[in-house]
Amino acid sequence: MAHSASPVPVTSSRSGPLSGRVRVPGDKSISHRAMIFGLLAIGETRVSGLLEGEDVMRTAQAARALGAIVHHDGPGAWRVRGGGVGGLREPAGLLDFGNAGTGSRLMMGVCGAHPITTTFDGDASLRKRPMRRILDPLELMGTTIVSQEEGGRIPLTLRGPREAVPIVYRTPVASAQIKSAVLLAGLAAPGETTVIETEATRDHTEKMLTHFGAEVVVSPDGVHGRRIVLKGQPELQAAPIMVPSDPSSAAFPLVAALIVPGSEIVLESVMTNPLRSGLLTTLREMGADIVVESEHNEGGEAVATLRVRTSGLTGVTVPPERAPSMIDEYPVLAVAAAFATGTTRMRGLQELRVKESDRLAAVEAGLKAAGVTCAIEGDDLIVEGSGGEVAGGGEVATHLDHRIAMSFLVMGLATQRPMRVDDGAMIATSFPSFLSLMNGLGGEIA
Ligand code: S3P
Repeated sequence: MAHSASPVPVTSSRSGPLSGRVRVPGDKSISHRAMIFGLLAIGETRVSGLLEGEDVMRTAQAARALGAIVHHDGPGAWRVRGGGVGGLREPAGLLDFGNAGTGSRLMMGVCGAHPITTTFDGDASLRKRPMRRILDPLELMGTTIVSQEEGGRIPLTLRGPREAVPIVYRTPVASAQIKSAVLLAGLAAPGETTVIETEATRDHTEKMLTHFGAEVVVSPDGVHGRRIVLKGQPELQAAPIMVPSDPSSAAFPLVAALIVPGSEIVLESVMTNPLRSGLLTTLREMGADIVVESEHNEGGEAVATLRVRTSGLTGVTVPPERAPSMIDEYPVLAVAAAFATGTTRMRGLQELRVKESDRLAAVEAGLKAAGVTCAIEGDDLIVEGSGGEVAGGGEVATHLDHRIAMSFLVMGLATQRPMRVDDGAMIATSFPSFLSLMNGLGGEIA
């Protein structure tokens, strides 16, 4: 796998205008869930548009180890035959999730509620990430933590109870991964499992539970929150899944077109689920020229074709309550902010510290390497836009983080001097075609 190989430095250079029409790969969140729901449903789940990135392949491998029959029929086309809730097989070896936080945490919810013993491991990045946030609710549901590294880190081993206990759980931080792990565990529990979140996070798990035949009731809770009630022990029935294009991947060509002078590109069928669309809202507030050309529905999600033209951007303040709907997009927003006129303040970014890397620190270091004035104040990131030229010329440490790598490669397309990232290997976890897609639009990345 790429992360055990030696680092692959990648450089991007100032490019001519970007142009063309592209479709970015399938959504990573939905692709992980497609494999997991396929495992937990009775019958054969057919998936089209699956993201074939390394992270999702790890989840597919784990689904196989837990008893699913997983077939690859062609590009993006997969079939998963599972044994139903309660029908998991104890894996023979450990489950290695590589770099995949979502795959590992959601599968902890699945495995921790079944009467099997499972060991979770991953790469150096995943080994640093907090898992206590998943283990806490699982312990309340009856899971035994057989072993763990300090602070609830992986490698760790779980043993599920004979029958999981349904709980009412308020997530301590806005996290779709925590919510999803509890709901997936709740599938194996009798009675109702309730998750309350103070800030609504991406709702793919809730939608897919309903799509596969579970009873789920979602209601508002407080100003920005939601209460999700799941009736346990349903018989999930296999259902087809069409994976829409990933807005978190579309963010890279989108910002590139905004900052490279003279560009005009079209991004086809990007998912516009409102709980994933904070970047679009923010860029529009900054003055971005993004036109919706057509809107339709794909597999239960709203999608839109977006035409993006180079735009003079203005700095804004991004409110903390917007963070869940653009959590993975802050690194590339910070790049856009470096070219804007005036200051951009992104508030309430504490969760960025526990992503594939400490993204607050990594973004600050990368911007500084490019000659951009920026600062971290508490949990806020403040970027002073140049309103024109950005020097570039720096080397960025990616810390095994795909989004740090792609963000600074996008930046280098518009800086005066090239930007180099120390390792582009992790890009394959979420966007394997990134280089060819960007270069196909006219980018200079090698
Ligand atoms: C995801 C949730 C988010 C996000 C991650 C994918 C998901 O993580 O950053 O890339 O698919 O549920 P958190 O739940 O930790 O915020």
